[in-house]
Amino acid sequence: MVAGVLVDQTVTAAIAGMGVALPEARLTNADLEATLDTSDEWIVERTGIRERRIAADGETSVTLAVEAGTRAIKDSGLAPGDIGLLIVATLSPPQRLPAAAAFVQNGIGLDCGAFDLNAACSGFVYALVMADAFLGAGRADSVLVIGSEVLTPLVDPGDRTTRILFGDAAAAAVLVAAPEGFGLLGCDVGCDGSAAGILEIGPGQPYVRMEGNEVFRRAVRACSESAAVALAKSGLSAADVDLFVPHQANGRIIDAVVSRLGIAPDRVARNVERYGNTSAASIPLALAEAAPAHGDIVLLSGFGAGMTWASAVLRWCSA
Ligand code: ACO
Repeated sequence: MVAGVLVDQTVTAAIAGMGVALPEARLTNADLEATLDTSDEWIVERTGIRERRIAADGETSVTLAVEAGTRAIKDSGLAPGDIGLLIVATLSPPQRLPAAAAFVQNGIGLDCGAFDLNAACSGFVYALVMADAFLGAGRADSVLVIGSEVLTPLVDPGDRTTRILFGDAAAAAVLVAAPEGFGLLGCDVGCDGSAAGILEIGPGQPYVRMEGNEVFRRAVRACSESAAVALAKSGLSAADVDLFVPHQANGRIIDAVVSRLGIAPDRVARNVERYGNTSAASIPLALAEAAPAHGDIVLLSGFGAGMTWASAVLRWCSA
């Protein structure tokens, strides 16, 4: 093989099981109206969000990930000891060192390598692509990927432009080698680090700072272009998509991406209304709720701080 030339990967990843974990407490737009200069009408019209889940005291991205990961393993029919690698996609680990994945590995009772991946809201799809590479290279037989976030402590309670957007959740998938013709068909990951400053928690800062309009503009472009690249790499077009699962950041971003791609609205998974933006948990949470049928072409596409983006096309296998 000539260095730099990609060879076709014969083994690709399929999702064998999924699990989600949601805090019980809800923060509604009416609750926000009581403390912020905002209104239910404004929030619904500009974002499509009606409520978000809020982690209780003691609930962290680790505890939610343990819950979601345990459920995903059970759903896959495997045992924790079968899992060959754990990737936790998160921007909100409870502590800087060690990685959240170390605590999650111990909490679930896994016996495998474990690490965190921070690609913000693109994290789950980044991790899915990485899991696919591990499976394809024969480095693991199964990979547990978890998107888990407790974002609400990272948002200034007095900032109406960010507090309305974010929520807490975790969702997980067990990836195994797909039967021929199923699993990951094509993908695209990218990053434009020159835009890192438009969405960040700066050094020494406690809270997210965001240039909302600029994030919005770039998000629509990145998400739609990346989704189109992943479809092209799969030899498919928007008309082939049975289920599109975009990152759930804002209903208007979803509408704009869907219209650019030309995907029928009834093929789009949408739960931003109930959970807000849960970053790395958002795509697997929407995917788990949408529950694709065997053979469906599923398109996942996310964007996030970095600015990062990532898209993947799967032929769904539920056999
Ligand atoms: N309630 C009432 N008014 C508000 C609120 C609020 N919650 N927030 C802002 N406003 C006001 C503004 O102050 C502004 O008032 P002004 O005209 O008097 O100055 C007016 O509403 C319009 O503000 P815009 O910022 O132009 O409103 P916009 O329609 O762009 O919506 C929003 C703001 C919702 C933040 C939008 O820009 C957005 O969703 N951006 C993308 C955010 C995003 O997706 N972030 C996550 C990225 S993923 C990740 O990695 C975490």
